[in-house]
Amino acid sequence: MKVLILGIDGYIGFPLALRLIDQGHEVYGADNFYTRKRSRKVNADSAIKIDSMNERIKKTGNKIKFYYGDVSNPKFIYDLIKNTMPDAIVHLGEQRSAPYSMISLDTANETLIKNIKSTMNIIYAVKDIKKDIHIVKLGSMGEYGTPNIDIPEGFFNIEYHGRSDYLPFPRMGQSWYHMSKVHDSYNLMLANKIWGLNISDVMQGVVYGTRTGEINKYNLNTRFDIDEIYGTVLNRFASQAILGIPLTVYGQGNQKRAFLSLEDSITCLNLILNNPPHNEYRVYNQFDEYYSLNYIAGAVAKNYKSLTGTDIEVSHIDDPRIESQDHYYNPANENLKKIGYRRQRSLDDEIPVILSDLENNKKRLIKLKDSIMPKTKWNK
Ligand SMILES: NC(=O)c1ccc[n+]([C@@H]2O[C@H](COP(=O)([O-])OP(=O)(O)OC[C@H]3O[C@@H](n4cnc5c(N)ncnc54)[C@H](O)[C@@H]3O)[C@@H](O)[C@H]2O)c1
Repeated sequence: MKVLILGIDGYIGFPLALRLIDQGHEVYGADNFYTRKRSRKVNADSAIKIDSMNERIKKTGNKIKFYYGDVSNPKFIYDLIKNTMPDAIVHLGEQRSAPYSMISLDTANETLIKNIKSTMNIIYAVKDIKKDIHIVKLGSMGEYGTPNIDIPEGFFNIEYHGRSDYLPFPRMGQSWYHMSKVHDSYNLMLANKIWGLNISDVMQGVVYGTRTGEINKYNLNTRFDIDEIYGTVLNRFASQAILGIPLTVYGQGNQKRAFLSLEDSITCLNLILNNPPHNEYRVYNQFDEYYSLNYIAGAVAKNYKSLTGTDIEVSHIDDPRIESQDHYYNPANENLKKIGYRRQRSLDDEIPVILSDLENNKKRLIKLKDSIMPKTKWNK
């Protein structure tokens, strides 16, 4: 299969590329290094050292054909698709931080406009150039928010005033970043309805972990962010443990979110690529389990203690976000299981590996220490 990965330099894009070349697929990728640049702009960096894209390509035996460019530029996307004529496009090339989108009007607009434009560019280019390309688009479980009812995969049966229908489940993003993903989802749904494009829309949970089988095999790291803007919760807790400082849970800590390991995220994307829809808009809730923030902090503290014999404090700080502190949460994830997904790596498998990788990068962690505590506040 010929696969074009947009955002190939990122946390998920690069390990996905390694998995696909290892399986013998033809891999093309594009990136404009926004995450590297934006992360430096907020005085942060990957806590684990990563190679330049040139080095990465060399170390994989030049098996990736790389194009530098901005996915939100329509000419770049049209040329790229004409040059590569892929069977599938995996679109990961968006601004992916909720806090970044909440810094200012500029970063909110940058996130909304660039993310929505990039997905629109892909939709139009696929419609105009090669309509049977499978578009795999990364959305977020955060698109649904935290409703007080079960969360299905994209659609649900509803009865209202004596009539019933099968409708898109309400999406209630809790940041401008999540709202950009909500817009993307509706735009993809419409593109399928009017032009019959083949779309897998992936509502992904929070990804944790430093490694996959191929990262080990090629000895090539993927980025790992721990700062308040780009770092996700488990990654931040693990770095606080290694730095010997309290794990700072936002608010009461009963907020629940869906999670999966990096290894499982790559496996799911691989399964989705191998099961393309035909003229269908298909939604996958891509996660393994859901946990509260308190549970995640407890799991990091427990694993740290069994590795080092040392207790680590868990503290609670004011929640910088506007979110329900204690709520019902029951999302479904049956669609991936139907195509063969089974959990490969659990929290307790992965946390010791993350802690050990961070211990080996402690000098970088110490430099990044000031970037961990939240400064970006939703209500500012
Ligand atoms: N990591 C998670 O926990 C998580 C959870 C849910 C959804 N997602 C989604 O998955 C996708 C990938 O996430 P990630 O963690 O790998 O993020 P990442 O920031 O590490 O990777 C995204 C890559 O896309 C590139 N990029 C961004 N905008 C671009 C543009 N306009 N043109 C070209 N390249 C661009 C970045 O430079 C980066 O290399 C994102 O869409 C993100 O929203 C991630």
